[in-house]
Amino acid sequence: MLYLVGLGLGDAKDITVKGLEIVKSASRVYLEAYTSILTVGKDALEDFYERPVILADRDMVEQDSAEILKNADKEDVAFLVVGDPFGATTHSDLVLRAKENNIDFKVIHNASIMNAVGCCGLQLYNFGETVSIVFWTDNWKPDSFCDKINANLKRGLHTLCLLDIKMKEQTIENLMRGRKVYEPPRFMTVSVACQQLSEVSKNRTDCEFSPSTMCVGLSKVGSDNQRIVAASLEELCKYEQMGDPLHSLVIVGKVHPLEEEFLKQFYLTNFDNKAHFS
Ligand SMILES: C[S@@+](CC[C@H](N)C(=O)[O-])C[C@H]1O[C@@H](n2cnc3c(N)ncnc32)[C@H](O)[C@@H]1O
Repeated sequence: MLYLVGLGLGDAKDITVKGLEIVKSASRVYLEAYTSILTVGKDALEDFYERPVILADRDMVEQDSAEILKNADKEDVAFLVVGDPFGATTHSDLVLRAKENNIDFKVIHNASIMNAVGCCGLQLYNFGETVSIVFWTDNWKPDSFCDKINANLKRGLHTLCLLDIKMKEQTIENLMRGRKVYEPPRFMTVSVACQQLSEVSKNRTDCEFSPSTMCVGLSKVGSDNQRIVAASLEELCKYEQMGDPLHSLVIVGKVHPLEEEFLKQFYLTNFDNKAHFS
């Protein structure tokens, strides 16, 4: 059996009791290590589980899934995912490959940023399509997220923006020379995401958001030191106190009075909030 086990968002102890039982008894335990991170690393998980854990990077999951699925028709293999296994698009693929190989699978769900974002007071029912914001380079500045945010805002819906993570990236030079030398991990911050969004809002005439649009920055949701800050896009461009990764951003749509009441506790400044809501 292949078990996809969600680890939740905080630390080693956020695994469910059912998940922990599977981890303790499986033949092999893999930790997916490229779409998200916990506040603790592999060592802390191994200490808590009292067993070794194999790191599964993008290459292993996407190009060498046979290794993960080996013998999973006869024994139990656990594949650990930070958050919920279906909180990232990537893992449906592993399930489909298990099915192709007649391997049964079970999913042990857990909290995901996709639902924990409700901690800022905006109702999950009032969110539209989620978008991903990738790091821009000097000559690659994709802004397709703008269309999705526009569509959400036109319907008064909030947008959860998941921010880019770069794990085990190679420079172009190392890639071309075939050198397996990797850059240190990089995590997009709320301020970098806001700077990119702000540039798009200035360059595109069809943009439904502007530098004065109300946004919410969130970091390390689910951990003891999670942080939530509500301010205009412009203010968040300059706000560097969100703390350690991971960060997410919400572009706020139409706000219900109850949502506003809740959100108030996170206002960065005492601004006239009405002016900031779309
Ligand atoms: C590809 S998603 C993976 C989601 C994960 N599987 C889940 O269910 O939560 C990774 C992105 O979600 C956001 N994210 C994940 N965990 C977070 C957390 N605890 N606090 C804030 N943002 C988080 C970050 O923007 C991060 O880059």
